Amino acid sequence: MIKDLWYKNAVIYCLSVGTYMDANGDGVGDFQGLMRRLDYLHGLGVTAIWLMPFQCSPGRDDGYDISDYYGVNPAYGTLGDFVEFTHSAKQRGIRVLIDLVVNHTSDQHHWFKEARHDPQSKYRDWYIWSDKKPPNADKGMVFPGVQKSTWSRDPVARQWYFHRFYDFQPDLNTSNPAVQAEILKIMGFWIQLGVSGFRMDAVPFVISTKGPDVERPHEQYDMLRAFREFLQWRVGDSIILAEANVLPKTDVNYFGEDGDRMQMMFNFQVNQSLFYALASSDTRPLIKAIERTGAHPLTGQWGMFLRNHDELDLGRLTEAQRQRVFAAFGPNKQDQLYDRGIRRRLAPMLGGDRRRLELAYSLMFTLPGTPVVRYGDELGMGDDLSLPERTSCRTPMQWSAEPHGGFTKSDKPVVPVISSGPYGFQHVNAAEQRRDPNSMLNWTERIVRMRKEVPEVGWGDFEVLKTGDKAVLAMRYDWRNNSVLVLHNLADEPREIEFATGLKDGRNDDLINLLTGDHSKAAKNGKHSVCLEAYGYRWYRVGGLDYLLKRSEF
Ligand code: NOJ
Repeated sequence: MIKDLWYKNAVIYCLSVGTYMDANGDGVGDFQGLMRRLDYLHGLGVTAIWLMPFQCSPGRDDGYDISDYYGVNPAYGTLGDFVEFTHSAKQRGIRVLIDLVVNHTSDQHHWFKEARHDPQSKYRDWYIWSDKKPPNADKGMVFPGVQKSTWSRDPVARQWYFHRFYDFQPDLNTSNPAVQAEILKIMGFWIQLGVSGFRMDAVPFVISTKGPDVERPHEQYDMLRAFREFLQWRVGDSIILAEANVLPKTDVNYFGEDGDRMQMMFNFQVNQSLFYALASSDTRPLIKAIERTGAHPLTGQWGMFLRNHDELDLGRLTEAQRQRVFAAFGPNKQDQLYDRGIRRRLAPMLGGDRRRLELAYSLMFTLPGTPVVRYGDELGMGDDLSLPERTSCRTPMQWSAEPHGGFTKSDKPVVPVISSGPYGFQHVNAAEQRRDPNSMLNWTERIVRMRKEVPEVGWGDFEVLKTGDKAVLAMRYDWRNNSVLVLHNLADEPREIEFATGLKDGRNDDLINLLTGDHSKAAKNGKHSVCLEAYGYRWYRVGGLDYLLKRSEF
């Protein structure tokens, strides 16, 4: 029964409607365009789509500044188109998750407009105000270097208002029961229109106490339980995937000790040490991060990712580790952002080296959690550093070698399509890669298929095996008497390693290679010896063919 938890063995694909596919030729991607691409996504094998914000918004933070939670941005289509889309996705067995951005609204939201104009308005207390400039106004900025403060004076209200992010994103007073009720209403609305859950934006800030007198904010974790409870009352199998870049010791507060809070969280800890491992060929901090974040309630799950729509945030690494990653993947000032991250896409960071790209993806797909793929990464798309801040890695999807990569018929795409250099649409596009059996696209399709066939990774317990080589990560997953073993060599040279599968129940522990015909039998000493090429990886099923035939159902 418990295997019904669909998100434990899902493959999530994230995209933004505005830069995916433009059907009406106005230069902006739309739901009609996205619907035309659903068969592509179905073919790729993804099981869920996460949509970045598509609601009404002035678009000053790419939709993360919402001015109406109950409407679709007219540039993307209508509510009718949205429902057609969720329905069409469902027909292909694809679930839809959407962003839930409720830490703040746009300053153009009518709640904020009414709040600032009228101290008696019921919305006044939906935001956080102060008569005087709070002493900590120049602390806690999320976008240092671009964002000047966390409090701004509103000349109309003649008070200061709090904004954790940009000044056009006033924070909601999430401790106010009326605001909490509205958040539930928003969730209830979209769940009714066919979504399977939410990627909740900025969760630690949503649940934080806020105000001019709050010197030491604390998290109101109970709120998370209330959100989940409500959602599951409405639709039993819906989930919340939390964006919470927090320390491993607080993870349990987000999942809930009894698994009664967030079903999923993004694993930022593993993400950062993964990039350190790729930069240094040293897997030890990655192993530490995997082990530290290893324990969570059975119903909880990590979202594993490489790059997302934001900068690659390296804020949780040590200074030396961070500098190592900067040196390897973003050495120039223009590659870096907010003093802590890199604003590049994966392929250019890895020098377009196919071996390294496969290694990175193979690793991400076999870490304990559910993989989250960013649109365009399946093609090895690049970035455009001439664009401001995070827009560098938010360029339109490259569909073909037609003008503007086949994204739009308009001459004015909402964000310029990458049109020159090795990552230009002329060289990197879906149409061409679909025809080439050895393309990154076809490789991704195969690895997605394989990942779905090894639910041990999503569901099972894991053990990191000793290889005696810090450049090689070996892990075994066990679930329902089935085991899978994966190896990754992060060094740029071949490595020969010896290891034991660690299975102690006397099972045949021959290793059946799931990706090629190159299997492995243990030597007399019970150990396997495998030679991995530079950046090589292996996925094995443990137990030999006889075992395969007998293995229990998934
Ligand atoms: C986190 C989102 O990922 C980011 O893109 C956005 O700017 C902030 N939250 C503010 O909503």
